[in-house]
Amino acid sequence: MHITSVFAISINGMITDENDKVSFVTDASFENYKNALRETGCAIAGRKTYEVVQNAGDLEGLDVTSMVVTTDQQYQPVNTTDLVAHSPAEAVELAAAQGFEKALLIGGGKLHASFMAAGLLDELLLDIEPAAIGQGTPLFDGPAFHAELELLEFHKFSENELQLRYRVVK
Ligand SMILES: NC(=O)c1ccc[n+]([C@@H]2O[C@H](COP(=O)([O-])OP(=O)(O)OC[C@H]3O[C@@H](n4cnc5c(N)ncnc54)[C@H](OP(=O)(O)O)[C@@H]3O)[C@@H](O)[C@H]2O)c1
Repeated sequence: MHITSVFAISINGMITDENDKVSFVTDASFENYKNALRETGCAIAGRKTYEVVQNAGDLEGLDVTSMVVTTDQQYQPVNTTDLVAHSPAEAVELAAAQGFEKALLIGGGKLHASFMAAGLLDELLLDIEPAAIGQGTPLFDGPAFHAELELLEFHKFSENELQLRYRVVK
């Protein structure tokens, strides 16, 4: 199983502002996100991001299998067909059991840190948004780790935005 995380971040690594909003993320970046989802077909999200995404209808029409990761053993997903896992390792096992060879980790900062600390993240796909955000949710919001990365690709996809793809060195 190959897991790639996909995030739009401020230049200082925030994924939300102080009000938990992502209004600094551009339409061009949102298109990148949707294209990555279409290509991969399986989206794994922390319970908080899952609820934001499902309530906004962000996955509608994309033919994506959606999975939520939560510690709540009784959790009822927003859509009854969505998968529920209780740890990063179980999420990977569930995606593999569905026949996927790759999956996208779509957030948020807490689940991202859990995957990285567990050694289960293979790539990061980061859109660098033209914003500096003083307070908010960081890209990794969890246990201590130190991962080394290899830059695989970079390109400018709009007047003010760069996309970077990194491999996690294992
Ligand atoms: N800019 C971007 O690209 C981007 C991308 C994604 C999300 N976001 C934003 O990020 C915010 C949410 O991020 P967040 O860091 O606060 O939350 P999150 O990572 O989306 O969700 C946190 C929840 O996931 C579950 N979880 C995390 N690690 C787990 C583990 N190891 N085992 C079991 N369950 C685990 C827990 O759910 P329970 O509490 O139910 O146990 C935890 O409370 C939202 O506002 C969203 O809009 C931004």
